[in-house]
Amino acid sequence: MGNTRICLLGVGAYLPERIMTNEEWTEHVDTSDEWITARTGIKRRRIAADGEGTVDMAVAAALCALDDAGLAPDEIDEIIVTTDTPEVYIPDTAAFVQYRLGAREIPAYALGSSGCAGFLQALDIARARCHFGVGRVLVIGVEVLSRLISWNDRNTSVLFGDAAAAFIIGQGKLGAEIIGVTAGTDGSRVDILMMEVGGSRRPFTLEEAQQGEHQHVIMNGRELFKEAVRRMSEAACRVIEQAGVTLQDIALVVPHQANLRIIQAVAKKLDMPLNKFFINVQEYGNTGSASVPLALWEARKNGLIAGGDLVLLTSFGAGFHWAAALLRF
Ligand SMILES: CC(C)(COP(=O)(O)OP(=O)(O)OC[C@H]1O[C@@H](n2cnc3c(N)ncnc32)[C@H](O)[C@@H]1OP(=O)(O)O)[C@@H](O)C(=O)NCCC(=O)NCCS
Repeated sequence: MGNTRICLLGVGAYLPERIMTNEEWTEHVDTSDEWITARTGIKRRRIAADGEGTVDMAVAAALCALDDAGLAPDEIDEIIVTTDTPEVYIPDTAAFVQYRLGAREIPAYALGSSGCAGFLQALDIARARCHFGVGRVLVIGVEVLSRLISWNDRNTSVLFGDAAAAFIIGQGKLGAEIIGVTAGTDGSRVDILMMEVGGSRRPFTLEEAQQGEHQHVIMNGRELFKEAVRRMSEAACRVIEQAGVTLQDIALVVPHQANLRIIQAVAKKLDMPLNKFFINVQEYGNTGSASVPLALWEARKNGLIAGGDLVLLTSFGAGFHWAAALLRF
């Protein structure tokens, strides 16, 4: 890919105002604050307002990232949106975002259904596009998971939250350098997290819709947990090895925020102290493809990243997909 320097020009995020506590979930399902806290570390999550949609949130995060980069919408050359919760199936969210943002008639496309790994997969593609000569790419991760998932299923409902976050990347001398990105997939594990009803395999029936089947996530939590720890750790090791650095050189790890226990297990597997991991899962729950950029946005906002720091991003998602990235600030 030559010596072209690809860097992070701006980071932005958008969080819906409404905060939903664990206690509030007890009004909908048989659960408790103790159970959710002990098993996941989650205390609260944000819930999109009625009438607030995926596109509204994506555009708000994009404007925040543009502001951070000191750029106008017409200075963006490509848009990639990653989401499992589009407002409509066709066309993709990227088309809506391109228009609402006031961007030029540039390529805009979406990655969907790769779960929480989607954002770093998109970053991998965006980085390659910049090496190819595209000037600036806007990458947005956005989820309104509160509308996708059943509010009657305690196994999954309490885990998720709504959010959007965005990066702007491009060639240049300013901003954190994206040193490397790695990604992989093991499609033999599609069984551990799936929404089966609603696609071409099992189109909606009235009966199933009435029973809420279209919002039913099949999840093998324990298997997912194990795969998540293994794949996030492996991806982290691969990206630092490719960059010729070691785990000791890493100032901060920004992992996918699915579950505090998963993050603790990754820290243990990598033999790194937990205080090197940025954690905000207690505030927002699992926000899918928005999770990693939201965490990086908050870590930087909180002054946890200094110039020269090596920051490692690592994630996993349904599929089973995983991806990691290494940045030098
Ligand atoms: C889901 C998860 C929190 C469950 O934790 P766990 O320690 O594996 O849970 P256990 O298997 O010990 O307990 C499951 C029991 O808790 C119950 N339970 C599930 N959700 C519950 C809730 N919200 N409140 C109370 N009880 C709950 C189950 O019904 C089950 O009961 P049973 O034993 O009577 O059948 C954990 O497996 C996990 O985080 N996995 C990864 C999930 C994830 O990250 N998903 C998103 C991926 S992008």
